[in-house]
This record gives sequence, C-alpha cells and structure tokens, in this order.
Amino acid sequence: MQENYVDRILKAKVYDVAVETSLEAAPRLSRRLDNRILFKREDLQPVFSFKIRGAYNKIAQLSAISAQRGVICASAGNHAQGVALGARTRGIPAVIVMPLTTPDIKVQAVADLGGEIVLHGDDYDQAYEHALELGRERGLVFVHPFDDPDVIAGQGTIAMEILRQHHGDEIDAIFVPVGGGGLIAGIAAYVKSLYPRIKIIGVEPEDAAGMYESLRAGKRVTLDRVGMFADGVAVRRVGEETFRLARQYVDEIILVTTDQICAAIQDIFQDTRSIAEAAGALAVAGIKKYVARENCTARTLIAINGGANMNFDRLRYVAERADLGAQREALFAVEMPEVPGSFLRFCELLGRQSVTEFNYRYGDLKAAQIFVGLALTQGKAERDGLLHSIAAAGFAVRDMTDNEMAKLHVRYMVGGQARGLNDERLYRFEFPERPGALLKFLQAIGTGWNISLFHYRNHGSDYGRVLAGIQVPLETRTDFLLHLNELHYAYTEETDNPAYKIFLGG
Ligand SMILES: Cc1ncc(COP(=O)(O)O)c(C=O)c1O
Repeated sequence: MQENYVDRILKAKVYDVAVETSLEAAPRLSRRLDNRILFKREDLQPVFSFKIRGAYNKIAQLSAISAQRGVICASAGNHAQGVALGARTRGIPAVIVMPLTTPDIKVQAVADLGGEIVLHGDDYDQAYEHALELGRERGLVFVHPFDDPDVIAGQGTIAMEILRQHHGDEIDAIFVPVGGGGLIAGIAAYVKSLYPRIKIIGVEPEDAAGMYESLRAGKRVTLDRVGMFADGVAVRRVGEETFRLARQYVDEIILVTTDQICAAIQDIFQDTRSIAEAAGALAVAGIKKYVARENCTARTLIAINGGANMNFDRLRYVAERADLGAQREALFAVEMPEVPGSFLRFCELLGRQSVTEFNYRYGDLKAAQIFVGLALTQGKAERDGLLHSIAAAGFAVRDMTDNEMAKLHVRYMVGGQARGLNDERLYRFEFPERPGALLKFLQAIGTGWNISLFHYRNHGSDYGRVLAGIQVPLETRTDFLLHLNELHYAYTEETDNPAYKIFLGG
C-alpha cells in the first residue's frame, strides 16, 4: 500500500492550480528555541491553504465522463474553496453544500470562485448528509475533504516538495496539523517510505483531538463535540483510510491549547509578517511543546503552515490570548481587606511590575475581590514567584491564568453578587455564530428554567460564547441535563469554578 501511495503522489496532478510553496527558515523562532525551524508556506497557495492540492487532484483524476457531470462537496471552509477553484480550473460544475450557519464572508468567497452554493442544515454533519444525497440525485461526484486516496495523495505532494527542497538526511521531524487526517496521511506515507527515521508528528487542539483519541483507542472514535477555535481541524471523526495510514506511519500526536495556538500565530507573524489561521498555526504550537518536552537543540524541525483564512475580527481575541499562551501574562484573583490603604499596599507590593488588567468588585464590608493581570518577562517561574510574594504579604491569592471561564468571561464582567438566589448552576457554551444566533440559543434553552446570569462576547464572526447562570432545582436536574445534551452545543459546567465563587458569588 505504501508504494501505491508514493506512486499516487508522484503522479498527482496539482500544479495546474496549486503552486510549489517555499520552505523557509524561521530565524527568530529558531533562535528562541535553539533549533532549526523551517516553515512550509502552504498559506501562500492561491486559496490560502493546502486544501486545493487534494481537491484538485481528485477532480483532475476523474474520467472525462464523470467530470462533466460535475462535483459536489460539503464544507464551510478551505475545502469548499479548493473544490470550487479546482472545478473552475477543469471547467466543470461544482456544488458546495454549506451549513446555514456559515458566515457570509465564506459563502461569498466560494460564490466568487463560481461554485453553486446550497445552504443546508445547522452544522457540518447535516450539510454532509445532504451533499451525499444531492450528489446521488444529480449524479455528481462527491469530493471528500480527507478520506479519499486521491485527496490524500494530493496533500502528499507537500512531502514530495519538502524532500526536494531539503535533504531528508538533515530533517529530524515534520509537524503536521490534523483534522480528518488527509494531510498527515499523505505526508507520512511518502516520507516514511523514503526516510523512516524522520519523525512525523501530528498536532491537534486539546478540544478536537479525534486522531489522538482514535490512535489511543486503536479504533476510530467519534467525539461528542469539538472546539471550534481551530475550525479547519474541528472534525468529530477522522477518516477510515487516514486512520489506517496514521496508525501505520505517524509517530505521535501532540495536543495544544487555544492559548498556545494564539501564541504560535504571533510567532509566525514575527518571522513572516503573515497571519496564520488557527489550524494553520497548530504545527508551530506543536514544535514549541515538543522542544520544551524533549529539551532538544540543533534539530531541524519543519512546520506545515497550512492556511491563512483568518477572520480579521478574530485577531482581537488572538492578540489577547497570545500573551497567556506565551507565558507573558499572569491572571490572579486577589482578596484584600476592605480597609483604607490595602489597595495601596497591594500596588506597592507589585512595584514596577506592569499591570495589564485590574478589575475590582465590592464584596462585602470585610473584603474586596480584585482580578489582576500582570505582564511577565520570565514565564512561569516569574508567575510562581509573584504568587508566592502576594501570598506572603497576607493577601489570599489564586492563580487564574489557566482558568478558561475567568479568561473568557469573568474578566469582562462587572456586577453584584446576587443575594438570595437558589439552585444556580453555571454553564459555558459555544455555538455557531450567525444573525439571530443568540436568540436561537436562548430559545433552545427554553423557558423551563430561569436564567440568572448571562455574559456573551463575540469572538470573531463564526462562533459565539456564552456564560449562563441557570436556576435548576434539584428535582429537575436530570431533565435539565437531558435537555442540554439535546441542544448539541459544546458546553462545560462551571458551577464549581473558583472564579464563579469569588467574583460572581456562586
Ligand atoms: C488550515 C488547515 N489545516 C489543517 C487541516 C486539516 O487537514 P486534514 O483534514 O486533512 O487533517 C485543514 C482542513 O481543512 C485546514 O484547512
């Protein structure tokens, strides 16, 4: 099978539409990590991602008879643009099924490439089913985003280029973002057949770890829900063929957090002055984690920078979280006595430490709560030192730097601690953003339970995040949980989160 893939990759047709991208040194990151880091610049493809390779190879390999009927796919992202451009290049019709939740800007991008757009369903799974059905009805060829040998081979041409651009003897590892697994399957099958010594390391977000979980279980696992931040890799189940290849050839999968992805977007920017999308920065985040773990130096490590289709309005969020991911900011909750001078005493304690954020909320007559952000220059050691000195000065302090709810919501909230409120449970939700999404969310929650707290903040145009306090009497708790699970929104219960207790009076 391996030879088969090498053969398919060598014979893949991608260059009618894709370009051979450069393999560039990343001098700043290399210096910082004390290793030689190279970026494979797939963000420079015509539709700003590597997906055009696989989509076009599939389309180019079709017989004239199949091709003239046209192709169909389901996607709201880079695959949609790849299929639309690929079909236009071959001069055949393309139908792209997108969920109704797809932001306008993405619909427009595909329409501009000449694809016929069908909006259907609330999420990718529904769009996918509809595309299969429509394809059968209209006799169109379905172009799968990852689980197809021609798509895998198209993505594998990246490995062929890398080994032409840099001698295989001098490469230690290649880091590859993983969604459904098409990209890593193609790269691994090619590289391992020529240089089994080169490590192939997949990188996934912690909250979309489909390949990691599947490899661990020894079979394909379907995730109940996936985080949407790195939308290019937000896949609930990896492919059958991609899983088979990953099992055979992939050395390991590294998981990274949203903050680490944001920090990697900034690292890429510093070396290239280009902005990667979240999935496009995964490999760099993975390299950083690997180097810290292995404590290695002087290795040659390649990151596949897979795409640059970033929504501009998400940059605010990315910039905010990049400092946390790079350990340049610490967030603390500090309790101080409500006595004159304690504020001053606390600020004196901080001395010349630069403050990034300072939120105060009256607690009661005895104590006040402060949410404070501090800039760090020496990472975790400095953060631990600060915690220690604040505590030593007699203030009750808690580290909130890794507390997702505190970072997403509490830091933006002001309001009193509600008194006399019973049975409040706190939940954090994620849902696809589109006009009316908030209303739909509230309708889905229904009127069966009282909402006692609400914070919503739009993080870019494709998904919204809500923190909601809901009064759930004990006797209705089971019903409520059943209802929540039926909504199919990603959610986390936060009732026991210390930030809730401290700042919102839970
Ligand atoms: C930018 C980017 N990176 C990575 C991936 C993941 O590729 P695969 O699904 O082949 O694993 C995608 C998929 O669309 C993507 O758009």
